[in-house]
Amino acid sequence: MLLKNPKRDEKQLCLKGAVQINHSSFFVYEDKDGRKFLKTGGDEKLHKSIVQKMINLNPHIARILRRFHIKPLIDTKTLNELTCGHMNETCNIAIGVYSLLSGDIKERVNPASLKEASMLHDLGKVLIPSKILNKPAKLNVKERKIMNIHSTLGYELLKTQGVKPEVLNLIKYHHQNLQHSGYPVLPAENTSSDLGVQIISIADKYSALRESRVYRRRLSRTEALLILYREVREGKIMPAVYNALFKYAEMYDN
Ligand SMILES: [Fe+2]
Ligand SMILES: [Fe+2]
Repeated sequence: MLLKNPKRDEKQLCLKGAVQINHSSFFVYEDKDGRKFLKTGGDEKLHKSIVQKMINLNPHIARILRRFHIKPLIDTKTLNELTCGHMNETCNIAIGVYSLLSGDIKERVNPASLKEASMLHDLGKVLIPSKILNKPAKLNVKERKIMNIHSTLGYELLKTQGVKPEVLNLIKYHHQNLQHSGYPVLPAENTSSDLGVQIISIADKYSALRESRVYRRRLSRTEALLILYREVREGKIMPAVYNALFKYAEMYDN
């Protein structure tokens, strides 16, 4: 049962996943009695308390933050922007790409997991210092290392929330590529999620290229597709996934 405005004790809530309704992303929360309700990223107080709870539940998160000398500050403004913009758009593109793949390839991906993972993929950015996240210039090596832990942090935050392992895996490896030269390092035996990771990854990149950033303008559809085509030639992106994105962009991204 989904409730819109339940009376809630924020300390008792779990973030169980995400859904998209009418092309808008919502987080799915569950209270201690198993009642579910939906929220966007806009409720700062709620999100701070829930992310804090996730940190408390998983001591590994504090260890990662300490290793990178990051203070555990929760940036819910970023979370709100991500939910309304980039994560929602990544989900739209990922589902569009999935729907344009041929039948035999499609069978290897669970669209519900793909959808949920794409809506949550950058959740870990709530713990990345905003001076790095919003730096109006190229990141230096140290800052890049910190930025790159956001996918692992997202995975660790959600690990204690009852999110499906398949979804967690897609979140953790959404910056991986076909050559496994992305981050974090993919265990040698873990290739089963390659296709799902490829779809989220290409949707993530295309969405980011089509948005303006503090350090660059928004790229055109052709410019974005050309950049990603280079990655096909480098062996990082599956041609079938790229071709589906190409079709998606021609049909829906004018
Ligand atoms: Fe990311
Ligand atoms: Fe992203």
